[in-house]
Amino acid sequence: MMTKPHAAPVLRTPTAGVSLMVIPHEVPLVVEEARPGQTGTWQGPADERLAASRIPAALRWNPGTDGDFGLSEPQTVAHFTKLSQKNFGNDTALYPLGSCTMKHNPKACDEMGTLSSVNLVHPSQDPRTLQGSLEIFWELERWLAEITGMDAVSLQPAAGAHGEFLGLLVMRAYHEARGEGHRDEIVLPDTAHGTNPATASMAGYKVVEIPSGPDGLVDLNALKAAVGPKTAGFMLTNPNTVGIFEKNIQTIQKIIHEAGGLLYYDGANLNAITGQARPGDMGFDIVHINLHKTFAVPHGGGGPGAGPIGVKKRLEPFLPVPRIVKRTAGDFTTEGMERHPQSVGKIKAGYGQGAALVRAYSYMCMLGGDGITRAAEIACLNASYVKERLKGILDFPHPGRSMHEFVASASGLKKRTGITAGDVGKRLLDYGLHAPTVYFPLLVPEAIMFEPTESATKDELDRFIAAVQAIAAEDPALVHAAPHTTPVKRLDEATAAKKLVLRWHTLARLEA
Ligand SMILES: Cc1ncc(COP(=O)(O)O)c(C=O)c1O
Repeated sequence: MMTKPHAAPVLRTPTAGVSLMVIPHEVPLVVEEARPGQTGTWQGPADERLAASRIPAALRWNPGTDGDFGLSEPQTVAHFTKLSQKNFGNDTALYPLGSCTMKHNPKACDEMGTLSSVNLVHPSQDPRTLQGSLEIFWELERWLAEITGMDAVSLQPAAGAHGEFLGLLVMRAYHEARGEGHRDEIVLPDTAHGTNPATASMAGYKVVEIPSGPDGLVDLNALKAAVGPKTAGFMLTNPNTVGIFEKNIQTIQKIIHEAGGLLYYDGANLNAITGQARPGDMGFDIVHINLHKTFAVPHGGGGPGAGPIGVKKRLEPFLPVPRIVKRTAGDFTTEGMERHPQSVGKIKAGYGQGAALVRAYSYMCMLGGDGITRAAEIACLNASYVKERLKGILDFPHPGRSMHEFVASASGLKKRTGITAGDVGKRLLDYGLHAPTVYFPLLVPEAIMFEPTESATKDELDRFIAAVQAIAAEDPALVHAAPHTTPVKRLDEATAAKKLVLRWHTLARLEA
């Protein structure tokens, strides 16, 4: 049974100057906690250490002159433990953030990514001294090509959006090489993730948005009307952003290809179909793969992620350099612009995010082909289970069968109780669960987008369902003011966005 979290604990407002250590959740900076004589290790006098430092004197923090200055070991451990407890990660509990695929990141893969043989090599080393890394990267390219149905892969991009950008640079280079550089329009469905139009604009394209049909799928007539001699490509994810498989994908690819455009696959939703269906077989020409989603590389807080792209044969000459080449078994080398003169150049230093690539490689080794296929099946099963159980509380604007995620609407709930999608998301935090994605995609009013991934157990799914049911029956005033139990309470979001506070100030200093 779900225990109802308490409403806000009443905290005394601290008086100016009172030690911050008594205020729950406040964790001062290390430099604020440090005191003379507090140290767990003896490293020599502070002034000698500073003198040996290469940091220019003007930029050094001067910890004081009388003796050693710092934190003892228990204080250090307490400091970082407290900080870690302020956070909610997918090691804490269910993190069903739709479109983000926040699955469990096995610790064994982290271990592989931090091996010294991976981390203590440099991409500028002579390739003869990088054979192990090159072999891993080369194999990873092959596996990703196999999973997506593409012919060649570049591991360089550092995120999905970065992959999109590279994909569109490759697209432009392809059209230009064919004397069709005048193609300057990218067509997108109105369900597209914000990075798609943003990337298209950054790459210098005009964005043409088409509406989706009432079933949430691409409106074929709108697509036909939108494409023409100026179309460079169409960006789509499948299953699409409302979690439904674009069953007309063969017709879509025909429309785009007949117009002379290319079909771009946004791989954010690949987790629904790994081992089941391949974008390359659906007619996509370019795909990006978010390794930090589908292949269990930790993400959030801005990375580091990895967003390799895969392309069909005719686009391979335009991939970035260096390309990794296998000469014979166990003999790898790299090739630059001289061997690939049509390449778009480099998109990132080295070969990509090395440690992230090794994590994804390890994950794929652990699961094997069968495991990767099974993961997609369970991801879809988990989402379908929650969707069925939430019927009657939330609305489901698209009748079709959802795959690994679904989009519900809190419109009816709002009408009945005043509780909005945002309120549900915030209140879930009080139940110890991360909020799903809310207000995306934009075309669904009061959207709640839920993606449990294959990592969630049935107990966790039941806990989530019980929490949503409980919230829908709670006093709306309590829900409007949530979260009540987190270090940061409900913010005025407009003020938070417009008046960014990016520097740490202790409460005492703020109040002074
Ligand atoms: C559908 C979709 N496309 C693209 C992206 C961008 O990927 P990244 O965050 O790796 O840049 C996301 C991210 O959530 C997404 O959900």
